[in-house]
Amino acid sequence: MLIRVIYISTASGPQTADTTQAILRKAQANNRANGVTGVLCQGQGVYLQALEGERSTVTQLYARIYGDTRHTNVEMIHCESIAQRRYDNWSMAHVSLSDLDPETQIDWPEFDPYSFTGLLVMARIDDLLASGTVIEGSA
Ligand SMILES: Cc1cc2nc3c(=O)[nH]c(=O)nc-3n(C[C@H](O)[C@H](O)[C@H](O)COP(=O)(O)O)c2cc1C
Repeated sequence: MLIRVIYISTASGPQTADTTQAILRKAQANNRANGVTGVLCQGQGVYLQALEGERSTVTQLYARIYGDTRHTNVEMIHCESIAQRRYDNWSMAHVSLSDLDPETQIDWPEFDPYSFTGLLVMARIDDLLASGTVIEGSA
């Protein structure tokens, strides 16, 4: 049974290119091996991540990520059983929230993802993917 989980968290330190690359490299290698797909949005001091895969796999992965000291205030904002993956092209796509496109900045001027529902965040992630803001991470 497949599920999708979305969470939001606060970076423990500066979100440097090195930190991001280290997380992405590990995520992409592990996720390919474990049949996990998803998107990691990162920037402005927060992480927003969607994870899709087998329920047991995603549950264990979420527990590992939750305990990772590179971020805090991890809050699950969405969890659902799914018939189909949404991000099946991506072992872990990377979207930078630092250079949001102008349209997104207009739609989303007060960037406070903790106040958003999971479905709203997912719609925004999809907008970002559709607008080509993805940097890397194909499956
Ligand atoms: C924001 C964030 C997102 C992460 N995403 C993933 C992920 O998608 N997949 C993954 O395996 N690890 C991810 N990690 C890393 C895990 O917390 C953990 O360090 C890693 O899974 C350990 O893998 P290992 O046992 O192979 O060393 C993420 C960490 C952070 C801070």
